[in-house]
Amino acid sequence: MVQQFQKIKSINGTLYLSGDKSISHRTLLISSLASGNSEIKNLSNSDDVKSTMSCLASLGINFEHSAKKITVFGNGYKGYKQPAKPIYAGNSGTTARFLAGILAAQNFESVITGDQSLSLRPMRRVIEPLTEMGAKITANDNGRVPLCISPSDNLNPIHYHLHVASAQVKSAVLLVGLHLDSDTTIIETSSTRNHTENLLGLKVVYQEGKIISSVSRENYPEPKEYFIPGDISTAMFFIVLALLTKNSELIIKNVSLNPTRIECLKIVRRMGGNIEIEERGVSNNEAYGDVIVRSSELHTVQIKKNIIPLIIDEIPALTIAGIFADGNFELRGATELRVKESDRIKAICSNLLKLGLDIEEFEDGFNVSGKIKNSSGSFNSFGDHRIAMAFAVLSSNLEGGGKVEGFECASVSNPDFLKQLGSIGH
Ligand code: S3P
Repeated sequence: MVQQFQKIKSINGTLYLSGDKSISHRTLLISSLASGNSEIKNLSNSDDVKSTMSCLASLGINFEHSAKKITVFGNGYKGYKQPAKPIYAGNSGTTARFLAGILAAQNFESVITGDQSLSLRPMRRVIEPLTEMGAKITANDNGRVPLCISPSDNLNPIHYHLHVASAQVKSAVLLVGLHLDSDTTIIETSSTRNHTENLLGLKVVYQEGKIISSVSRENYPEPKEYFIPGDISTAMFFIVLALLTKNSELIIKNVSLNPTRIECLKIVRRMGGNIEIEERGVSNNEAYGDVIVRSSELHTVQIKKNIIPLIIDEIPALTIAGIFADGNFELRGATELRVKESDRIKAICSNLLKLGLDIEEFEDGFNVSGKIKNSSGSFNSFGDHRIAMAFAVLSSNLEGGGKVEGFECASVSNPDFLKQLGSIGH
């Protein structure tokens, strides 16, 4: 579907966003492991989180949906049922990698598959530490799905130095460790999102620049009630839009303020963005609050390589802020972008080239300079939800508007994007 966007004159209003995708995946999985009923409020309505639910359903987990909450009937320790066929994780890398960890500790064989994009994403980064733990898991010859997992009676805890700064890899290891009697530890030298640690209440120690988290069967979850804060990565598209659009004031309520997720807010503030944050509460160790954004004149800033893992999902939105800001926009140290739902470096550069900007593409990032020469644009989503929404925001800032091909993929993280844009854009 080609979606047309008109120039937006002002952004005004209040948004309540669906739950954070990362926290939603984890909450569902953790609830499914507990023995008994957990209740989740504000679960993400994204396609990715639906993929996690349908995988869990094929593993024998039942759900009950009501207007305000979802109840998960957890089956307890090693309580999943063997699925009748391969488990389909759709577009969701988080679902595939997390399930690889949990399924490695079950007593039956299973296979995880995914869509075309997921079939291109690297899985060796998960297979390698899980194999070190004694898991029996194989991928295809290129290290991609399908993942075939067999039961192992030889699982053991490890002390793992996370050499790919990936919360997905970290979580897959922690989820195996959750089934073992003694401590599995993860040692990180650069910080990644910490929702798994928060939701399981894990011990985390900060020592000589390292972050060390430990897990064992003692942390095995009990049924709980959860409130999931709004998705900060989804919010970021609207935040950038409000900053760039004249006469704007936008309030986003109850959004995640987890310290490992708000680096993107700190960057746009450094860029001159008028952003207020009002903390509202904490649920299961996850902080949330309101973000108030007003139109601002932005200038580019240096983005240090060591914080890239903390802004990895917000780079498409930040780039749009960067190209309208005063100064060249440069991003380096972000090779991981090449193995997301699309090759995001290539996707961003090839879309920006269409505006007559000067682009230098590097293996680990890009530099954008020059002025936008065209008054409208036609962009490709590359089947990637975050690219689709980033270029929707860009289009809404062009005098003649713009269009985004394949925009339907936005539902991978936010099926309500167009409705929400319509409610605040004037
Ligand atoms: C996620 C971690 C990140 C992020 C992804 C969600 C998570 O991936 O890009 O969208 O929920 O743990 P990596 O951990 O592979 O960097």
